[in-house]
Amino acid sequence: MDSQQFKMNDAFTTTNSGNLIPATNVVEDEIIIRTVKLNKYFGDKHVLKDIDFEVRKREVVAVIGPSGSGKSTLIRCLNALEKATSGEIYIHGERLNSSLSVKRLSPIRSELGMVFQNFNLFPHMTVIENIIEAPRLVRKMSKDQAIALGEKLLVKVGLSDKRDAYPNRLSGGQKQRVAIARALAMQPRALLFDEPTSALDPELVGEVLKVMKDLAYEGSTMVVVTHEMQFARDVSDRVVFMSDGSFIEQGDPEEIFKNPKEKRTQLFLERVLSVLP
Ligand SMILES: Nc1ncnc2c1ncn2[C@@H]1O[C@H](COP(=O)(O)OP(=O)(O)O)[C@@H](O)[C@H]1O
Ligand SMILES: [Mg+2]
Repeated sequence: MDSQQFKMNDAFTTTNSGNLIPATNVVEDEIIIRTVKLNKYFGDKHVLKDIDFEVRKREVVAVIGPSGSGKSTLIRCLNALEKATSGEIYIHGERLNSSLSVKRLSPIRSELGMVFQNFNLFPHMTVIENIIEAPRLVRKMSKDQAIALGEKLLVKVGLSDKRDAYPNRLSGGQKQRVAIARALAMQPRALLFDEPTSALDPELVGEVLKVMKDLAYEGSTMVVVTHEMQFARDVSDRVVFMSDGSFIEQGDPEEIFKNPKEKRTQLFLERVLSVLP
């Protein structure tokens, strides 16, 4: 069974619409993230169940689903913040194996930029210091180069005037925009967002979504765990509905929102869409 699965994966690849096409037509490096039968247990709790996930270059994938379904755990496994129990993860073709030494793991991890719900900025560093820290340490960028890049990114997220501010002087929306700039400063192949607007006051959600929308339209590769159904529908190329550790259904956003095939997707969408204004 397993060997057949591998053969399938070698010989074919799945397009966004779910059609199988011969893999020879596809440039291998276009697959940025790939998991094969990924499983995660916390104790005896089975949190990720045989997840096969593929994200292509420039794709924006929205992951939706009820609380507790394993969305954060999936994102955290991709970034090696959590150790998968079994299965494989490839980041741009490189096998991510959490038993690798930190030295070997770090370059693979740095291919993915991470934006968390709670910003996770360094409180003792100014905005620009937050942004240049990782490029300096991990990418060995010179200070001048890192600052020039950081300033460019601050323009992009609309926060040039906050360059020397400390995080505690910023609003939640501003903090999250700094966090996005910080993730971009590593020039990652893909950005992973875990509910980036959930901790924000409602009036600050828009400014963060706007930055994310711009990134999507510029062709960034993004995986976005979100409760913002409008964003998922309007901006993503593909929506994945997750429940109870499994991918229940995935596909074109219009299709998923208008015509969900699975009962669990229907119930979830009825529930969340009924509370939309
Ligand atoms: N560190 C942990 N230890 C034990 N259980 C965990 C841990 N992290 C998450 N879980 C459990 O795993 C399940 C999935 O959680 P999570 O990935 O956070 O879901 P979601 O992000 O979809 O809300 C939940 O039942 C949660 O309680
Ligand atoms: Mg979560």
